[in-house]
Amino acid sequence: MTSKFQPRFSSDLPPPAKRWNGFPRYNFVGGHNDASEVPVDELIAAAGSVLAREGRTLAYYGLESGAQGYLPLRRLISAQLTDRAKMRVGEDDILLTSGSLQALDLVFEAFLEPGDTVIIEEACYGGTLSRLQRLGVTYIGIEVDQDGMKTGQLAEVLGELEAKGQNPKLIYTIPTVQNPTGTVMSEARRIELLALAGNYDLPVFEDDCYADLQWDGERPPSIRALEQRGADSGRVIYCGSFSKTVAPALRVGYLVADWPVLSRLLPLKTDAGSGALEQMVLAEYGAQRFDGHVADLSAVLKEKAELMAASLAEQFGTQVEFTAPRGGIFMWVTFPEEVDTTSLAAAALEEGVEINPGVEWSVDPGYGRRRARLCFGSATKQEISEGIARLADICHKHTGIPARSGNVER
Ligand SMILES: Cc1ncc(COP(=O)(O)O)c(C=O)c1O
Repeated sequence: MTSKFQPRFSSDLPPPAKRWNGFPRYNFVGGHNDASEVPVDELIAAAGSVLAREGRTLAYYGLESGAQGYLPLRRLISAQLTDRAKMRVGEDDILLTSGSLQALDLVFEAFLEPGDTVIIEEACYGGTLSRLQRLGVTYIGIEVDQDGMKTGQLAEVLGELEAKGQNPKLIYTIPTVQNPTGTVMSEARRIELLALAGNYDLPVFEDDCYADLQWDGERPPSIRALEQRGADSGRVIYCGSFSKTVAPALRVGYLVADWPVLSRLLPLKTDAGSGALEQMVLAEYGAQRFDGHVADLSAVLKEKAELMAASLAEQFGTQVEFTAPRGGIFMWVTFPEEVDTTSLAAAALEEGVEINPGVEWSVDPGYGRRRARLCFGSATKQEISEGIARLADICHKHTGIPARSGNVER
């Protein structure tokens, strides 16, 4: 139904939202996490103690911490990033945001104008792609392999752009547990990327919201940390989130940047501060519990990833390809040529299985057409094995893939 105000809406609004009708039976989309792993009791205790002690500071916008967010949480993040990402971060280098999505909005608004060009990974977070589209920004995708963004190709692309007199505005990357490929950029590539960014004098926006959930191999230093080892500094803007480690509904993310950048982002954050209660509870909870919780959660997610891989192998045999993710909550799956995952996703949704079609997560629709992102974070183990079996049935019915001999036909 269209609104009677249709003629009055601005002309560049995005398409209307669909009403929420509940989750599908087999939910393999979205950044949801494992409900049984939310540390409810600890959050209750943290809420009780922090409110008893400091509840009256809720009387002030920004508590008694100012516009950058609750100071004890900024201190906690600073300690965590020093420990986990090998990065020196002062509490004044941090701006708490309403999820890292707000961090994306602030940085994109500060740097980008219609007609600008941004460099990203060829398979990329759909929320980033839709934001860049809405801003009228052109994006160029760089291929990703098991070591992350291919910096050789990045060098070529930057050289070609320069030859055409074009100057990109920004390199945006998700280096650690890349969304959707689940890869981790090697330290060598991070160093190469930084060197290229330096040569072309480009800002780097490092979106590290899954980095705490890397279970395979050692987490490399963040690109911002590597930058701090050299003479050049202030080029890398970093963002992270508690969505994937504690709970997405809390909506707590953060930006890390030098003051000359932060001071330009802060005036764009016109919401008078992100929700304070969740910041207080996280700080109170996090100091004691975060590390152990993240280790437990990562172990649970790893088991689910293995189950999803085994279910895909059992149901599709060699007809789908994927690389085991090195952490996180999703898997990037390639189907045979015959399968258009946009049609498959529509057919699957009709039967209660939701997947992300690859075109919504790819710069080039031709590349994304036969790929799909499958999230395993929130589904139970039973739902993963049943849902993948159902997906294989649906895919077989619509495309003949996976091929089945007569005696195994269901
Ligand atoms: C790469 C990436 N960046 C940012 C976000 C936003 O997360 P949040 O706003 O919940 O922190 C997501 C969520 O899925 C993501 O995958």
